[in-house]
Amino acid sequence: MAQQFGDYQNEIYFDGLRGVLPALPMTYAGLEAGAQAALPPSIWSYVAGGAGDEHTQRANVRAFERWGLYPRMMVGAARRDLTVDLFGHTLPSPLFLAPVGVIGLCAQDGHGDLAAARAAARTGVPMVASTLTVDPLEQVAAEFGDTPGFFQLYTPTDRDLAASLVHRAEAAGFQGIVVTLDTWITGWRPRDLATSNFPQLRGHCLANYFTDPVFRARLAKAPEEDPGAAILEWAGLFGNPLTWDDLPWLRSLTDLPIILKGVCHPEDVRRARDGGVDGLYCSNHGGRQANGGLPALDALLAVVEAAGSLPVLFDSGVRSGADVVKALALGATAVGVGRPYAYGLALGGEDGIVHVLRSLLAEADLLMAVDGYPTLADLTREALVRL
Ligand SMILES: Cc1cc2nc3c(=O)[nH]c(=O)nc-3n(C[C@H](O)[C@H](O)[C@H](O)COP(=O)(O)O)c2cc1C
Repeated sequence: MAQQFGDYQNEIYFDGLRGVLPALPMTYAGLEAGAQAALPPSIWSYVAGGAGDEHTQRANVRAFERWGLYPRMMVGAARRDLTVDLFGHTLPSPLFLAPVGVIGLCAQDGHGDLAAARAAARTGVPMVASTLTVDPLEQVAAEFGDTPGFFQLYTPTDRDLAASLVHRAEAAGFQGIVVTLDTWITGWRPRDLATSNFPQLRGHCLANYFTDPVFRARLAKAPEEDPGAAILEWAGLFGNPLTWDDLPWLRSLTDLPIILKGVCHPEDVRRARDGGVDGLYCSNHGGRQANGGLPALDALLAVVEAAGSLPVLFDSGVRSGADVVKALALGATAVGVGRPYAYGLALGGEDGIVHVLRSLLAEADLLMAVDGYPTLADLTREALVRL
């Protein structure tokens, strides 16, 4: 039986009858403001900031305002069905947690990766766990419960290390590998540059490397004994400027589904398909990497068209349930939430993430109810008007 996510509002209104108000903000603006107050300034600016003057980051958000959903009446959408099939799994909703390195540091206890994994277990919303975590991928996967998890790979220049990370993810039970293509080098980020702050260079979120046998074998001394040398070694091998010639090798690493993240051009989609990937992930990294000005949402239609029958994951600029609905209507198979869950975590830990996810899903579900789109199949390009 499909979950009726809109019921979350009944819980909130009925709590109100007992004088209990929501402990966490009900708007994205509220979450953002609360997180800014709750997080240490260096973490706040790392999470909130983006590339250049952050035009692309803002454009990602504004792009959603240029689409409107036709209200359709007398549909009788008394029950909605948001379930989706993705890589062989039936999920209760098309939402997922986008990979956020340093999500670990957004939690008050410094273990935000585990909190996000537990929120995934509670909600059925899958987590794409970053390569950059405070806790090793095995410990993150152990918290997923029955919800499938995906591992996001930053492909290092050492191929043996890349293989080791993928094989560890397989062994830990991850259900797919998301290879991020747009971050083999860090984009120009004035906020972080102004404070000379790059968390990984301070030794944060490198657990997957420091626990890896291939990485450790490269070091003269263990990371626990000489962290400085281990960090330098990491910096030297983190980013691999992959080309399409590397795709057969990536493909050969695993039988798990491979999804390429950062793909926004239909020609790249075609090359990815030719290389035997299982899914595309249309994203511009939330405007953190390049300030080129193209909102990821504006790239989505062409990516979906070129992807054919392959699933297309989408993120960048999703701030509301209405945004989720619009991305689905533009053809996304699943929609990723990024910064909003980092802010929920900063404010309310695991419960904060659950609140953010339930709020997004409730709003999406109620929009589908009010506007007469009872299933995801009803959400098509024809449901949208370009404003
Ligand atoms: C603080 C932060 C860290 C991120 N780290 C990663 C990462 O480790 N791997 C990755 O593929 N994407 C990473 N991303 C990008 C997200 O997966 C996603 O593309 C982005 O957050 C979407 O934009 P939005 O948060 O503005 O909606 C990060 C994003 C943020 C905000």
